[in-house]
Amino acid sequence: MTARSPYDTLVTVYGGSGFLGRHVVRALAKRHYRIRVAVRRPELANFLQPLGRVGQIHAVQANLRNVPSVEAAARDAQVLINLVGILFERGRQRFDAVHAYGAEQVALAANAHGARMVHVSAIGADANSTSAYNAEQLVLAAQPSTVIMRPSILFGPEDDFFNRFAALARISPALPLIGGGLTRFQPAFVGDVAAAIADAVDGKARAGTIYELGGPDIRAFKELMQFVLATIERKRLLMNLPFPVAKLQATLLQYLPKPLLTPDQVELLRTDNVVSETAKSEMRTFQGLGIEPEPIEAIVPSYLWRFRKTGQFRRRLA
Ligand SMILES: NC(=O)c1ccc[n+]([C@@H]2O[C@H](COP(=O)([O-])OP(=O)(O)OC[C@H]3O[C@@H](n4cnc5c(N)ncnc54)[C@H](OP(=O)(O)O)[C@@H]3O)[C@@H](O)[C@H]2O)c1
Repeated sequence: MTARSPYDTLVTVYGGSGFLGRHVVRALAKRHYRIRVAVRRPELANFLQPLGRVGQIHAVQANLRNVPSVEAAARDAQVLINLVGILFERGRQRFDAVHAYGAEQVALAANAHGARMVHVSAIGADANSTSAYNAEQLVLAAQPSTVIMRPSILFGPEDDFFNRFAALARISPALPLIGGGLTRFQPAFVGDVAAAIADAVDGKARAGTIYELGGPDIRAFKELMQFVLATIERKRLLMNLPFPVAKLQATLLQYLPKPLLTPDQVELLRTDNVVSETAKSEMRTFQGLGIEPEPIEAIVPSYLWRFRKTGQFRRRLA
């Protein structure tokens, strides 16, 4: 799609300091792109510098709720990637303001500058009328050639899913099975999603297309909790928490500084988080991009061992 070499291509990564962001920055740096990381607090993004050559990665201040800052970060870039997302609302960080309005500003900037765009959303954005779905619609209206990536839940060393439940298992006698733990997930390795995004930057993805990215295995929430417990070698009760009870708890928990559960998350758990049959048949998947995704067994034990009673030291079995 693009004739420019990566050395001449400036890619702005909004939200590049986040969990997925740092893997995207690493993947782009390996492919020799020039990278501008746009975040609210660039001074906290300096840890990204060693992922590239001297001067290859540069952090600038941008807030998706502030149009001039979005516009300034887009200047002279050939590709804009939007990875900004929030899990809960605080102050002016509202879902509509950040996910929908913010994403639209990035797309408008891409259109104004003739830049290509990659937008990261989430599986399930279509099933529920969420701000993520609104964002997709606004982005495609503003920049129709945008490639949209919808991953299932992400795993990797700094993930918020496996680490969170392993940490909970360390202090709690039971793990909750919201809605009976029947919701199905297709966890995707963060490095694979970063590779898919880098492929889109390379011009290997279809323009104006929504990709759904899930790992090789589909697992119910209960199975994932059993996997966590087996990995960290701990026995815990798996406690059924019906949706209405979970919603009630979440209503209170959402006011914690970093909420363990929010009512929106409970709502999302009502729907399976897996790649759709349509996306599979149209090859709008990892496989369509030529990526063989990693299973959780290959990666997760390499960082969950610290939650075992004996850390990296296994008990003698013989
Ligand atoms: N993690 C998952 O399991 C998962 C699954 C499916 C989809 N996704 C999607 O993937 C994307 C990335 O997720 P993630 O897990 O990497 O999130 P994350 O770790 O929370 O990172 C979010 C990034 O957004 C930046 N940010 C937040 N508010 C901002 C604002 N108003 N303006 C500019 N930057 C802002 C943050 O930096 P500052 O705070 O410094 O600004 C940070 O760099 C999101 O769209 C998310 O919905 C994630």
